[in-house]
Formats: sequence, C-alpha cells, structure tokens
Amino acid sequence: MSGAVLLRAEGVGKRFGGFTALADVNIELRAGERLGLIGPNGSGKSTFVNCISGDFAAHDGKVTLGGQLLDGLKPHRRARLGLARTFQLPQPFASLTVLENVRVPLLFAGEAAHASARAFECLEQVELAAKADKLPKELTQVEQRRLELARAIALRPQLLIADEAMAGLSHAEVDQIIALLLRMNAAGTAVIMIEHIMRAVTEFSERLVVFVAGRKIADGEPREVLAMPEVEGAYLGKQ
Ligand SMILES: Nc1ncnc2c1ncn2[C@@H]1O[C@H](COP(=O)(O)OP(=O)(O)OP(=O)(O)O)[C@@H](O)[C@H]1O
Ligand SMILES: [Mg+2]
Repeated sequence: MSGAVLLRAEGVGKRFGGFTALADVNIELRAGERLGLIGPNGSGKSTFVNCISGDFAAHDGKVTLGGQLLDGLKPHRRARLGLARTFQLPQPFASLTVLENVRVPLLFAGEAAHASARAFECLEQVELAAKADKLPKELTQVEQRRLELARAIALRPQLLIADEAMAGLSHAEVDQIIALLLRMNAAGTAVIMIEHIMRAVTEFSERLVVFVAGRKIADGEPREVLAMPEVEGAYLGKQ
C-alpha cells in the first residue's frame, strides 16, 4: 500500500559535542508504507526520530515531507504538516484526564471547535474511551502506550513514528499495539516502527532499515536484510 514519496531524509547527521550520533543517513519513505527501523542500543534511532520531528536540530542534511522542506521548523509546525511521533517514554500531562491529554495537540493546532469529539474518536480507536475521565497514572502500562498513540494520531498524521511503543509489554499486549498500528496504516498513515521486539518488527514491516553506530547499514526487504551477515553480526548476534 505505497504511493508517492512522503518523507525524504538526505545526508542527515547529528553530533553531541565531539560524538557523532548520526552520520549521512538517507531514507526515503512512500505514502502509506510500513517501515521497521532497528539497530542496537545507542545506534541513533531515537536521534533520527528527533531530527525528523524537529525536537533536535540536525547538523547536516535535509528532510522533506510531501516535498516540503522541514529544516528549521519547530515540532508543532511539523505536526501540522502531517508528522507525528510517540516518545520512547510516554509523556502525558499528569494532571490532565486521558481525554484532555488527547485534546492538547488539537488545541495547539488551532482545532478547538471539534477537539473534544475528535479526541474521543481517537480514544475509541485505541480502545480507551471507557477511561476518558481517568488520570494517566490510573492507566496500566499498555493503556499508557495506547494513550501516547491516541495523542499522536489526533491530527490525522500522514506519517506516524512509533519509538519503542511496545517496550516492556506482554506478548498479548504487543499484539494489541501491532493491531492498532496496522489499523492506522490501513487508514492511510505511513508508519515507521522502531522496535527491539523482532517478531513485532517482522510481522509489521514491509521494509527494514538497520542502523549501527549512527549509520544506515541496510535498507530493503525484511527477510533479505535479516539474512545479511553484517546485520546478523552487528545486531542480531548481540541479542
Ligand atoms: N541529548 C543527548 N546528548 C548527548 N548524547 C546523546 C543525546 N541523545 C542521544 N545521545 C547519544 O547518541 C547515541 C544514540 O542515541 P539514541 O538514543 O539515538 O539511540 P537509540 O538507537 O535510540 O538507542 P535505544 O535502542 O537504546 O533507544 C547514544 O550514544 C546516546 O548516548
Ligand atoms: Mg531509542
């Protein structure tokens, strides 16, 4: 289910002091595509997401979404252009209810008029509508992950980047999140799944990209990528 090029990252690089966290990363993603991004701890996956979302300013390269240059735009501007990401550690507003948490991105984007209705719709999509009036701390871990996803999809993104949305979840809970991401994808959203849980990545992804030490070392059909000796050596061998 892939269309025109949606995201194009060219030569993206990021340094922290003298340390190069990301170097010359080129990734192209088509509309509606499902991409898995894997790599060992510290290989630069979240740094890449942060450079795409605008949470970090990249030192090198350029990023376009639907042909529009994102460089220099703040995260909320990128969100309005159709880019959504979840954080590796869910970051809900603790004093706001579940529903209010999903309303926040809508209010921020100037969509106050229908914010409550749309927020409730998102909670229904992630099967959290019954908990709309609870506080985030009253949710289980998997429910908090689902809330994080509801907040991310509120603005109907063209691209959703899920950064380890399944870490720490049980087998059945992982299945719930995969099903959710597949539903969002079926509705037209391209998804980048960053994940250490290999069965989730292989079940979900049409294409796999592998990072090692801040560089992309593979990009292609999942089975072929996983069979590459350098991928096995650098990544799977350490599992
Ligand atoms: N804000 C920061 N300041 C300094 N160094 C950072 C910062 N963020 C990330 N790094 C470093 O950059 C490297 C890449 O980190 P990153 O979080 O992108 O890895 P990752 O692939 O997401 O790892 P994980 O699988 O553990 O989430 C690591 O060595 C990390 O310590
Ligand atoms: Mg990470």
